[in-house]
Amino acid sequence: MDIHVVDHPLVAHKLTTLRETTTDSPTFRRLTDELVTLLAYEATRDVRVEPVRITTPVSPAEGVRLTSPKPLIVPILRAGLGMLEGMQHLLPTAEVGFLGMIRNEETLEASTYAERLPDDLAGRQCYVLDPMLATGGTLSAAIEFLVARGCDAITAICLLAAPEGIERVKADLAGIDVPVTVVVAAVDEKLNEVGYIVPGLGDAGDRLYG
Ligand code: PRP
Repeated sequence: MDIHVVDHPLVAHKLTTLRETTTDSPTFRRLTDELVTLLAYEATRDVRVEPVRITTPVSPAEGVRLTSPKPLIVPILRAGLGMLEGMQHLLPTAEVGFLGMIRNEETLEASTYAERLPDDLAGRQCYVLDPMLATGGTLSAAIEFLVARGCDAITAICLLAAPEGIERVKADLAGIDVPVTVVVAAVDEKLNEVGYIVPGLGDAGDRLYG
């Protein structure tokens, strides 16, 4: 698994405001949207394209277009939904599937409560959206699920990650023969005793949706 921390002053600036306790929900949603679009620009560097011949008003030209089947975007409900629109700004023709996952706040174990994905994921390139990579249980389970269904390249876009979570996802996916990349705005210091990222931004789902 590759981890790519997007080192950009605009990302850092927006993330700083996002973290602040005083940032209200409408501002939090807008900043999430803007951040995702910046992260998605980096995350789609490897999006699959194929050559195409077109005609400009002046002459024939060579270009590229997205390969079919189009990439699949999978926001992890609930908080990942706040990242969908920002991703769709860059990939408006991508298909969207949904995974509903919740972390038990006592055991910190992730479980899946909803799934609405295309039937056939064989050979699909997939972009998973989840703002927080804390213990890593949710992201590991989501990626294992998508690989079992046939996805053959996965890029996860997260706002924040904890070092412990990154290590867990790496370990969990060590036996998986599919390229996995995590694109993240920042890797924070640690997890606290209740599984929150420190300094983090609190509970992203609550801050997005109350
Ligand atoms: C949060 C977050 C991630 C998960 C991260 O979701 O959005 O999905 O926890 O934790 P982990 O890395 O320790 O598994 P939560 O379960 O709070 O659900 P929500 O998105 O509905 O708020």
